[in-house]
Amino acid sequence: MILSGKAKLAGVLGWPVGHSRSPRLHGYWLDRLGIDGAYVPLPVRPEDFASVFRALPKMGFAGANVTVPHKEQALILADEVEPLAKRIGAVNTLVVREDGSILGLNTDAFGFMQNLLETHPASLGTLNRPAVVLGAGGAARAVIAALVDAGVPEIRLVNRSLERAEKLAADIGGPIRVQEWDWLDLAGAGLLVNTTSLGMSGQPPLDIDLSDLPQDAVVNDIVYVPLLTDLLLRAQARGNPVVDGLGMLLWQAVRGFSLWFGQQPEVTADLRDFVLKS
Ligand code: ATR
Repeated sequence: MILSGKAKLAGVLGWPVGHSRSPRLHGYWLDRLGIDGAYVPLPVRPEDFASVFRALPKMGFAGANVTVPHKEQALILADEVEPLAKRIGAVNTLVVREDGSILGLNTDAFGFMQNLLETHPASLGTLNRPAVVLGAGGAARAVIAALVDAGVPEIRLVNRSLERAEKLAADIGGPIRVQEWDWLDLAGAGLLVNTTSLGMSGQPPLDIDLSDLPQDAVVNDIVYVPLLTDLLLRAQARGNPVVDGLGMLLWQAVRGFSLWFGQQPEVTADLRDFVLKS
């Protein structure tokens, strides 16, 4: 690690933040690219977020990532917010500009789509069919914005809380059809994405019947612990192409890194292995 008094600084603001893989991910790129810089975990309680946010330029930070539970507050506090982040309703990347003002971005939508297309280039062909999205939380908002922008003709949205799904559909707009869990319609779909925490280690499994899902539909779980969730294993067993959630994390990080540290990092198989080992 190269670290001089002129090192560029970035980090991840979250509470708690100990589980975050971002320091390992950015640390890998800094190391491989020989950059004089550091990316550190920044555990910040919700009540302290605004003051820490305002201190970032004063402390010489080039920027930061923002994770749970601060993404909505970052949207409010940023001096300028990119239109996509406004639409999603959350900021996950901060860039400190020359004049000390803070720009808020959301790179999750890009991360989701890039992961899909890099893992299965053929996914592009399935985006002209309906997509089914499970969940209506922060991650779902980014996924759905990406699907709307990719021109997906119909997005069937299912969530435990119907009200939250309806709010998401109204906020983001586009061809979103809110459905009830019991009426989950997988027929004719080209893509199924799980954005809920179901299937994550320590959470209940995601219990859905895949029998109506076309066999060429791509199945993506944004959960990456475990890497192959029960949903992905069941989809794989019936012949569907599957995409795990780790790539979304890796790809969403690319833009922030290049803006803070001035070099374009690469997402490689070696990086995946390295991040997984943490
Ligand atoms: P994230 O930022 O990762 O999207 P979130 O905003 O907390 O996290 O959203 C979690 C998602 O998982 C939501 O869609 C949530 O459903 P509700 O909106 O009804 O809360 C869903 N989820 C979490 N636990 C669930 C459970 N036991 N059954 C069904 N859905 C669940």
